[in-house]
Amino acid sequence: MAKAWTPTSWQAFPVNQQPEWPDQGELDRALKQIASYPPLVFAGEARSLQASLAQVCAGNAFLLQAGDCAESFEEFSANNIREKLRVILQMSVVLTYSLGVPVVKVGRIAGQFAKPRSSNMEKVGDIELPSFRGHIVNSDAFTESARTPTPDRLVQAYNQSAATLNLLRAFTKGGFADLSRVHAWTQEFVASSPEGQRYEQIASEIDRALKFMRACGVDTESNHSLHETNVYTSHEALLLGYEEALTRQDSLTGAWYDCSAHMLWIGERTRQLDSAHIEFLRGVGNPLGCKVGPTTDAEYVLELCEKLNPARIPGRLTLISRMGADKVEDALRPLLRAVRDSGHPIVWACDPMHGNTVTSAGGRKTRVFDRICAEIDGFVRAHKAEGTWPGGIHVELTGDDVTECTGGADNILDSQLDDRYQTVCDPRLNGRQSLDLAFTVAESLRSTGLA
Ligand code: PEP
Ligand code: CO
Repeated sequence: MAKAWTPTSWQAFPVNQQPEWPDQGELDRALKQIASYPPLVFAGEARSLQASLAQVCAGNAFLLQAGDCAESFEEFSANNIREKLRVILQMSVVLTYSLGVPVVKVGRIAGQFAKPRSSNMEKVGDIELPSFRGHIVNSDAFTESARTPTPDRLVQAYNQSAATLNLLRAFTKGGFADLSRVHAWTQEFVASSPEGQRYEQIASEIDRALKFMRACGVDTESNHSLHETNVYTSHEALLLGYEEALTRQDSLTGAWYDCSAHMLWIGERTRQLDSAHIEFLRGVGNPLGCKVGPTTDAEYVLELCEKLNPARIPGRLTLISRMGADKVEDALRPLLRAVRDSGHPIVWACDPMHGNTVTSAGGRKTRVFDRICAEIDGFVRAHKAEGTWPGGIHVELTGDDVTECTGGADNILDSQLDDRYQTVCDPRLNGRQSLDLAFTVAESLRSTGLA
């Protein structure tokens, strides 16, 4: 029987990947300030997302979770948020149209700041400094003062999340996401490309379908679902002090919610069964994700399901598989089988990014577009073989024309990575590659007969 949960009960458990804040007093002050601020999201919204994820769980919807590896304090502007939203809306149109099911849209946005690192220190030449842990902790510049964890950054991350969420709500409810604007979501650099043109065809079909509905007497004007949409927020719940400070009791149900985002996930490096991260997240009512890498076995997954979703609520738990293209089929099948046979309701999503990171000849961290697609294919084949629903994808992308992942339709080469390599952490798909990926996902599901 699990011990009683409180928002602070995680503090008695082993905790990984927390920064070494130099001044405990400053940290306490920053967290106290955040605890006194309003919640960023509301419990009812988290419950709506969970209900939508329950539809994914039942095979009646598809999850698109996407955004930055790490949001940046420097790249913070309306443009930046709008471009990311555009590409998410475009991918969602492609997926909805091709799969024939609703797409649940969740951004890695409005709070995706904190990064786990494989090493506490980074060495360049003779100099060794603390690793960059995301702008919520320190700066990516390689100087001692930049790398020193600064608690004020926690407050800045809260403020940036609030402003980002405000704009997202305005865009998604205020006309930008109106289906009649489906053509206007294409960025200039995408429009002329083959995938841009493929998208245009779908957009034109949607126009025709809307006209057809109106001609048949359907009142498309007053139908909200054609004019606005929901884009939920999510991030890795890594800094437990920050998450605790935003954890509030819902006045309607009395349940606790982590109001820093609608959905929170546990990363590959902090998912140990006895960890503080699992302890913290088991007690909040939000829908949860947990990454599962290639070393995961079936016994672990079943225990994880019992810990995070003992009541077996559909939509509560999403397992995000990040195996690597070569391993995914063999590594995932036993997990799918075990979960299926246990009767646990799980959303299975494919993160085709984190198991396929390589270093380019020039020393850049990159990902090859074809390997990303290959992981998705393997993920879909594994589900086909086990009779389960490949519920969604979890990807790192930006709307901008960056050169961070190689390959894709415009065949970015290793030698071009330096041109526009802008990420503060992992390499992201650019706008064209993202759209291309949506078509790949649709084809993968269709060719296996799953859509
Ligand atoms: C991430 O999603 O950015 C990440 C660090 O992933 P993982 O925990 O799967 O390595
Ligand atoms: Co990443």
